[in-house]
Order: sequence, then structure tokens, then C-alpha cells
Amino acid sequence: VQRVLTGITTSGTPHLGNYAGAIRPAIAASRHPGVESFYFLADYHALIKTTDPLRVQRSTLEIAATWLAAGLDTDRVWFYRQSDIPEIPELAWLLTCIAGKGLLNRAHAYKAAVDKNTADGLDPDAGVNMGLYMYPVLMAADILMFKAHSVPVGRDQIQHIEMARDIAGSFNHLYGEHFVLPEAAIDASVATLPGLDGRKMSKSYDNTIPLFAPTAELRKLVFSIVTDSRAPGEPKDADGSALFELYQAFSRPEEARAMRTAFEEGIAWGEAKQALFDKIEATVAPMRARYEELIADPAQIEKHLLEGAAKARAIATPFIAELRHAVGLRRLT
Ligand code: TYM
Repeated sequence: VQRVLTGITTSGTPHLGNYAGAIRPAIAASRHPGVESFYFLADYHALIKTTDPLRVQRSTLEIAATWLAAGLDTDRVWFYRQSDIPEIPELAWLLTCIAGKGLLNRAHAYKAAVDKNTADGLDPDAGVNMGLYMYPVLMAADILMFKAHSVPVGRDQIQHIEMARDIAGSFNHLYGEHFVLPEAAIDASVATLPGLDGRKMSKSYDNTIPLFAPTAELRKLVFSIVTDSRAPGEPKDADGSALFELYQAFSRPEEARAMRTAFEEGIAWGEAKQALFDKIEATVAPMRARYEELIADPAQIEKHLLEGAAKARAIATPFIAELRHAVGLRRLT
């Protein structure tokens, strides 16, 4: 069997990028025979980004409800909350002790924070917590704990998976073959979904379209996507257009080809936006009602998560015992 694993950080409201870049391909993969899927809520990772407890709790509820509304089958999938698996932070420590500091110095997320501070004339490490620095090690623990072969993620996460591979390789070399070396799985057509301003859709850029925005708000947001000032009738570039990329992520290949032609033929921006809105709404509407129901019933979600944690720990508990033994954390007799 092929093991597929991915997680979403519970620090915000799920957006179209999370859905098209992670949730949708992950659910499709979970339906293939011969695949075991591990999908989880990265709430320890959320603590790196926020110190607002209610935000973490609310986001956990929203992201869990999103997975379920999008059609996740919890009987087939290991669906759990990271912080319900104490073996994960324990493994993170074992990995911390063999991860090179030089490797972590090169992590994009940490480097971006340092570069921004430097550009702003601040101390390079101002406001940088050690969680941000250690982020890739915790993520490696998430992945390696369940011997995932394939990790479907957006392009922004590739480096983290390479680091997990690297750390797994070092551990195997030192202590014997315990870990599977994971690979990133990128859906080429939706690699990085742009946000309202054309940059990567991201909570940190405040340019997201919430997946379950009410219809009227969704329409308003779609109509606020940046475009250039070309008039109706003037040919437009599909490549590099946020509007086109979003359209492509929510339509069939032949529809995207037809839209590319419409761009070349000078479709009006308003018309293209309406077409995009229709596509997104058609995808989201069937899930929205279910999402609202789930959000209103946290006890039902909690039950799924606790069952998922028990299933996940049935794997994690014996595996961490094996790893403790491997590194010398052993009984004396
Ligand atoms: P996070 O929460 O930032 O994003 C969750 C997933 O959504 C994808 N994504 C996007 N894909 C396409 N276009 C976008 N604009 C976009 N924005 C987000 C991300 O690539 C990701 O797949 N560190 C991870 C969570 C994590 C994890 C893991 C993932 C923790 N442990 C282990 C995989 C395996 C993160 O912060 O993702």
C-alpha cells in the first residue's frame, strides 16, 4: 500500500487555496484502492503563528468541518488532530537532535522572517520564535511517524518535505532503516493558487477567498480580483492572470482552454469574473450546506477526531517504542 499524508495549519479560515491545493486532491487520492490516507489538523503548527487560543480552536473546528463537508470518509481515512498524538512531539525531539542547524537556517519560512526584519532595519531575529525555526522538524515528525510515501501539498511546502527526507535519511543512516523517505506530490494545474492581489493566496497576505464565504460575499470578492486596465475587445494574457489561474483550478481542462481563447479574443473582465464566480459557486454550493450543519455541531466533529486519534495512536504508540529503543532510550534490564 501507498501511504498519503497531509495537514493544514489551524490558524485561520480555510480558503480556496487550501481546498484546491490540498483538500480536493487529498480526498480524490483517498478514494483509490491500495492507498492509506492520513489527513490531520496541524494545531501545534498553529501555535507558531498565533497566541490567540480561541482562534486556534475556531480554526480547528472550521478546517475539520471543511474536510468532512468536502466528502472525507473517516472510515477509510486516518483523520486526526496533531495535538491528540503525543508521540508526534516526542518524535520531533528525537529528530531535533539529529537535524543540522545549517539545514534549518535555510528554511524559507524562517529566512523570509529574518530577511524582512533586516529590510526593515530591525534585529534579524526580532519577533521570530523558536517554533518558526523548528517548524520543518515538527513537520518531519508528522510525516515520518506514519511512514508516508507521498505528501500532497502546494508548492510552498516542497522544501519542508525535502527536509523531512533529509532528516529521515540521517536517522536511518545512524540508527537503521526505520523511516520511509517521503516525496511531495504536486498537482501541476493548481500548484499555487493566487489570491485577490495576484500573489499566492495566503492568510499572511490577507488576500484570501474563504472557501465558505456566503454567496454574495463570494461574488464581491471574485469581482475584486486584480486585473489590468485592458478594455473589452482587447486581447488579454491568460498566463500570469490570477483570474485565469483561479478559473483553471475550478473548471475542466476543455473549459479552461475555451477561457484561454476567450482571453485572446478580448473577453471583458466583468464577464470573465462572472464566469469564475459561477464555477466556484458550482463547486462550493453543494458543500456549503453540509459545512454549516457541521459547524453548528462541534460534538459530532469532536467524536470523529477522537476516533481518528485512537486509530492514529494504534500506529504511533508501537512505532515510537521502536524508535526509543533504536536511539538508546531503553529499559536497563
Ligand atoms: P498551510 O496550512 O499553510 O496550507 C495547507 C495546505 O494548503 C496548501 N495551500 C495552497 N495550495 C495552493 N495554493 C495556495 N495559495 C495555497 N495556500 C495553501 C499548502 O501548500 C498546504 O498543502 N506546514 C503546513 C501544514 C503541515 C503539513 C504537515 C503538511 C504541517 N505538517 C505535514 C503536510 C505534511 C502548512 O502550514 O500548510
